[in-house]
Amino acid sequence: MIKRIGILISVLSLALVAPMALAVKPVTIKFSFVTTLNTPKGKAAQAFKEYVEKASGGAMKVELYPSSQLYKDNAEGLNALIFNNIQLLVPSATKLKGYNPAFQFVDMPYLFRDNDHFKKFTQSEAAQELLASLEKAGLVGLGFWPNGFKHFTANKPLRRPEDFKGLKFRTQTSGVLEAQMKALGATAVPLAFSEVYQALQQGVVDGQENTLSNIYTQRYYEVQKYLSLTGHGRLDYVVITNKIFLNSLDPEQKKIFMDGIAHANEVAFQEAVKLNEDALAKLSEKMTVSELSPEDRAAMEAAMKPVYDEYGAKVGWDLINAIKAIK
Ligand code: LMR
Repeated sequence: MIKRIGILISVLSLALVAPMALAVKPVTIKFSFVTTLNTPKGKAAQAFKEYVEKASGGAMKVELYPSSQLYKDNAEGLNALIFNNIQLLVPSATKLKGYNPAFQFVDMPYLFRDNDHFKKFTQSEAAQELLASLEKAGLVGLGFWPNGFKHFTANKPLRRPEDFKGLKFRTQTSGVLEAQMKALGATAVPLAFSEVYQALQQGVVDGQENTLSNIYTQRYYEVQKYLSLTGHGRLDYVVITNKIFLNSLDPEQKKIFMDGIAHANEVAFQEAVKLNEDALAKLSEKMTVSELSPEDRAAMEAAMKPVYDEYGAKVGWDLINAIKAIK
């Protein structure tokens, strides 16, 4: 009898406790970014969302906030991430220079030969060291996603250094990019990505530099007549989350999150080349596109050399040389 009562009590207590234990608090991942969905970053973000929601059976939700609708990806977005108001941010590498100036490697003129060179860099020890350097800020660097090479647009053709004299160009906030524009006899005007179209339209700046997919999806062709395929630097991303969020996940959720990032990483590399190629085809119908001759390119590279004199040591010669040594 006593045994039976004991069993009954156990069954009853299980019945009371089980639903509470099963009602695990759903995890919401807010992912803020400044580009549209139809970009390398936007496509990778959508792949991450699909993967995580499916693998967790809906117990983990990913909310995407594209086109700067929640935060810009300057200090505003970074602070939101540090304080766990958002859980994922994928800013362009240079936007992390406040934590480590070496992230401006991406702006160094003509450092990367091609997309494959950048991909190999992301798998290198130097790249892992850069990611690890974010830890002291409470951030966790999860990897690099590509966009591609940057090109200039303006309302006049830009082929040689002398074409840039006296013009103002929107750039991201970066000492390297300021030095780059100075080396070309032009001025850098740092502006948030969400402000560029209007600045071009109102003549606050004469031109800008960005990847083909960003130029196309931001519709700069409506306010710029010429696209010069200078390919003088890169715009690529660092995928970051924060420690508060990552530590709040149980091992299974953490695995799903990390697998989702790895899946999105593959999608980013697949999509970036394709989207930039598609963008060039579409832009060619809307703008006058100039290719640089080998002589023009050599003149541009020579004109930008002082950037290395000024910023080589700040970005770090070890890192620059490690990137150059990648075959
Ligand atoms: C920019 O500000 O031009 C870029 O960082 C935008 C982006 O995220 O591609």
